[in-house]
Amino acid sequence: ISLKTYNTFGIEVFCKDFIKINNENQLPALFKERQFSNKFFVLGGGSNVLFTENYDGLIIQMGNRGITHFIEGNFIYITAKAGEVWNDFVWYCVERGFGGVENMALIPGSVGASPIQNIGAYGTELMDVFYSCQAFDTTTGEFTTFHNKDCKFTYRDSIFKSKYKGRFVITSVTYKLHLHHKINTSYGAIHMELQKRGISSPTIKDIAEVVSHIRVEKLPDPSTIGNAGSFFKNPIIPMKTFNELQKKYPDIIFYSVDEYYVKLAAGWLIETCGWKGKIDGNVAVWKNQALVITNLGNASGSEIYSTSSKIMNDVYKKFGIMLEREVNVL
Ligand code: FAD
Ligand code: EPU
Repeated sequence: ISLKTYNTFGIEVFCKDFIKINNENQLPALFKERQFSNKFFVLGGGSNVLFTENYDGLIIQMGNRGITHFIEGNFIYITAKAGEVWNDFVWYCVERGFGGVENMALIPGSVGASPIQNIGAYGTELMDVFYSCQAFDTTTGEFTTFHNKDCKFTYRDSIFKSKYKGRFVITSVTYKLHLHHKINTSYGAIHMELQKRGISSPTIKDIAEVVSHIRVEKLPDPSTIGNAGSFFKNPIIPMKTFNELQKKYPDIIFYSVDEYYVKLAAGWLIETCGWKGKIDGNVAVWKNQALVITNLGNASGSEIYSTSSKIMNDVYKKFGIMLEREVNVL
């Protein structure tokens, strides 16, 4: 079947087999049929994948639904099934006044994918609210639970992207939120938008709305312009390298990580190389955000990949920094 509507880049590729799982208890049967002995890939909303060729295997999409919660002491534990839309989960929380995920409103994709790259935005990361997840082990056929520490979360990374890549199917995620949540307006863009709206003590809902507004202004909507959000990670570099770069480029945009490392805004590096808004055949770099690569309509996955390589070369030549792709390339 065609995967064009199953990836937000809108790339036309085909897969050999496709199955949507509406109940996690279907997974052991697939294991018994030895489906996991062959080539397979678990797909969520397809908002962080780039298909560069047809997929010669089975695509499994988690479509299980349901959100439940309970309160214990000062905490709210919310369990969402993998097939839930992430933003629906965010609004489930916002509507009940449960704070902790409102800064991550409107991130595309599914609940099941949220731990994979430790999604994050506007001052909050998944690891701040992740309690555990249930996962199906495709090598043993058993269900297992991962707690926060087991997942080895770091910036845009987890054990599911490294050591356990392609091994576990996440079937549900449990988030732990504080009943007495402190609103986080540390991110500059949120602060500015609140000021513009004359809001001095924002509610959880205000934050979700402000973040959604900023995102719509800055990022292309995948339903009309194919993209997968940030194509690269923001590079984390040693302080010493940074100090040298800053001498040469005093306006370089950075965030402090700790006393040894600094995180740079890849968007700034790419823009400074002249790529913002640039068209490269069927591919373009987004005019409002140079970290986002877009499909002008008829791009193939390999054309997008090749543009990304050109960008990486230019950034390396100018700054000596090798960008790392954030998107999962297949
Ligand atoms: P997919 O793209 O389908 O899959 C991503 C990876 O997760 C694949 O490796 C896949 O195998 C794996 N996976 C998916 N579901 C499961 C499962 N149930 N079990 C095991 N593995 C699974 N990301 C951010 O962190 N912050 C942002 O602000 C942000 N903004 C974005 C803006 C736009 C416009 C777009 C298009 C993307 C953005 N992203 C952002 C990236 C994307 O939203 C996230 O990576 C999201 O978690 C992907 O979810 P998905 O369901 O679409 O996953
Ligand atoms: N910038 C530029 N030029 C650009 C783009 C950005 O100079 O073309 C500058 C901005 O002016 C700003 C800084 O870089 O000072 C940071 O920009 P922005 O706030 O847009 O965030 P980002 O670092 O580019 C990251 C995430 C986003 C997330 C936002 C908000 C990564 C790889 N990307 O982008 O996540 O939404 O912060 O928290 O960490 C994604 O992962 O797909 C994604 C969109």
